[in-house]
Amino acid sequence: MAELRSITHDFRYEIVRKIYEGGMGIVYEAQQHGARGFVKRVAIKVVRERYGNNREFIENFVGEAKLVADLIHTNIVQTYHLGEFQETAFICMELIRGVNLEQFLQRLADAKRTLPQELAVFIVSRIARGLAYAHSKTDAEGNVLGIVHRDINPKNIMIAWEGDVKVTDFGVAKARGFLTDKEGEEVAGKPEYMSPEQADFQITDKRSDLFSAGIVLSQLLTGRNIFKAITPEDSRQRVMTATIPNFVEFGAQHGIEIPVRLNEILQRALSRDLAARYQTADEMLFELEHFIYHKGYGPTNETLGKFIRELFKDELAPRKRAASANTVRTSRTGRSTRTTKADSGMTARTSRTTSKTIRTRKSSLLERIKSKFQ
Ligand SMILES: Nc1ncnc2c1ncn2[C@@H]1O[C@H](COP(=O)(O)OP(=O)(O)O)[C@@H](O)[C@H]1O
Ligand SMILES: [Mg+2]
Repeated sequence: MAELRSITHDFRYEIVRKIYEGGMGIVYEAQQHGARGFVKRVAIKVVRERYGNNREFIENFVGEAKLVADLIHTNIVQTYHLGEFQETAFICMELIRGVNLEQFLQRLADAKRTLPQELAVFIVSRIARGLAYAHSKTDAEGNVLGIVHRDINPKNIMIAWEGDVKVTDFGVAKARGFLTDKEGEEVAGKPEYMSPEQADFQITDKRSDLFSAGIVLSQLLTGRNIFKAITPEDSRQRVMTATIPNFVEFGAQHGIEIPVRLNEILQRALSRDLAARYQTADEMLFELEHFIYHKGYGPTNETLGKFIRELFKDELAPRKRAASANTVRTSRTGRSTRTTKADSGMTARTSRTTSKTIRTRKSSLLERIKSKFQ
């Protein structure tokens, strides 16, 4: 047989449900179909129609997708593929079964629960871990790519039900930054999570992300974003000028006990003086991990997973999951299907028509394999 040189193959994706609808893009859960009934759940992000003709925006979307293509790390949502469909670009990526950190915080607030301090530190340590990897990513020649996320905020952090923490939305931040310069406020991202240099329209480097990670940590610990003001412009101003509180005192004012050591870590992450800030995500990671693990055992993915599954137990209950999973399901033919009594007995993970076909196919394949070895 001739040596294998290349494989040309088209993917087929069936949309399962809409996960998120934002100003610039829509994220779907989809099924990627392969040969012989192979099905893999993925997430697909498409550019909104109104941006579809904006050449510069698309170029950024595409350019950044290419940049993150090789970011392969447990704390970063992995990009699988960049495609084009009906002249619209889409990114296919790893599906995270879980929630973003904003939804997580909202649920905590609704349930009047607080996040255990060490889990807060654990979450940010995983963000730092993902950032450390991305910041030091090099090209094929070994040159550091100089990746800066520039949009570290709770909505761009995902927590899987298993407790994995993943940074997402890389590079769209840069596309956003690009548009921001031209279009102003509407796509400016979240000013209350920006670093002062970013808020001041200066050139940013990796240390900017560490400031943002510091804001996220202070929010997880105190339940508040210290820079958030009524208008985005006021938040931006506060990022540049508001006094960074001593978090031991700030916590006490809100009935929360913040250890001195955590205040030190926060002061360093939130230093406006770049030279006094953590210089690398690794440095910050070390101090965060030291804080949670220096006594021996500390939080893990499993601990966080248990906590989040308990917090969202209603959504995760099998019956309810089946119902909600079916409401926005789109069948093979593109018709949307509704939950019927007959459906509700099915498991949450499988869809109506497709799953049945696949199961039969799968079992017949198994039969064939079995009979071959008998
Ligand atoms: N890979 C994924 N798996 C599951 N949910 C995702 C995934 N990527 C994004 N999401 C959800 O969609 C939201 C928006 O995604 P994001 O990539 O941040 O888009 P945008 O550029 O519109 O902010 C996230 O906050 C998260 O809730
Ligand atoms: Mg986002």
